[in-house]
Amino acid sequence: MSLKTVEWKNNSVIMIDQTKLPNILEYVTYTDYNQVANAIRTLVIRGAPAIGVSGAFGLALAALQSDATKKDELISYLENAKKILFETRPTAINLAWGLDKIMEVANQATTVQEIRNGVVETAKKMAEEDIQINMSMGKNGSELFDDNDTIMTHCNAGALATVGYGTALGVIRATKDSGKNIKVIATETRPVQQGSRLTAFELKHDGIDVSLIPDTAVGYTMANSLVNKIIVGADRILRTGHVYNKIGTYQVATMAKQHSIPFYVAAPLSTFDMKSNPEEVIIEQRKASEVTGIGDKKTAPDGINVINPAFDMTPPKLISAIITENGVAKPPFQQSIKELFAAN
Ligand code: MRU
Repeated sequence: MSLKTVEWKNNSVIMIDQTKLPNILEYVTYTDYNQVANAIRTLVIRGAPAIGVSGAFGLALAALQSDATKKDELISYLENAKKILFETRPTAINLAWGLDKIMEVANQATTVQEIRNGVVETAKKMAEEDIQINMSMGKNGSELFDDNDTIMTHCNAGALATVGYGTALGVIRATKDSGKNIKVIATETRPVQQGSRLTAFELKHDGIDVSLIPDTAVGYTMANSLVNKIIVGADRILRTGHVYNKIGTYQVATMAKQHSIPFYVAAPLSTFDMKSNPEEVIIEQRKASEVTGIGDKKTAPDGINVINPAFDMTPPKLISAIITENGVAKPPFQQSIKELFAAN
């Protein structure tokens, strides 16, 4: 059984503290939306779908926390909480999606009690649907994989990046469950090592054959035919098929093109941003200490300049297909993505 990353229980939000993995599997309980905002900011919870649902749970907590007695008062309390939650991480579009969905329900309700019930129920439903969506995506994607494939993945797009099951790792799980014999190569994913700490942890936990490589061995594994397909998740996908994902994804995709290896992206429709153009997408820049050390150990000189973008953009020409719960989009993406939404 795959891990449950975040859930609502007894009017509180319970999450796995991913900063402690793989050494300690510890759950944290929050009753204040500011704690949820802080958890998103500090990567206690991370991964686009997981932070989308966590943002929704954060707003549900805010609705319970507020002592407002009138609808207007509660809406303005929620607007403020939404702003605080939204500003935690700017690139993953799922966060805005989750927050907007909750605000829509709040605005449509008439009384304070109706808002409270409505937002809690909606956030819980979003969490349940996340798992169902990932399972449908897994089934759709598994058809692109064959017996004896060795599949490379970058970062963590697994159960830990969602409520459960995972996007890219969901496809891997579904492929294995369909009876195909597969192996996985996980990149370490510096600087905060979602690959070694999280992907390696959850695949090992589920008994899936996984080998860990340093990020610098991506070219070597491809050049030596140690991998024949690649799948990653996404934080945001534009209507043109531009994919924003963990820093390093662009390098993996470029190298895959060089070696004629199919490069797949798996993401739910909630990861698509049908409005923005590439120059409008904000790439989150994170603190220097993620690069100047590993854990508590310093690995760079004091005062060194650091560039630490959390995400990069992979252009559509490097992508073989985008897997969603509604089906698989193939190039040209502008047309196929439109069709996926029309089928919704
Ligand atoms: O900084 P993170 O760990 O939140 O980055 C996560 C990723 O880049 C994932 O690949 C992406 O969110 C897809 S998760 C299903």
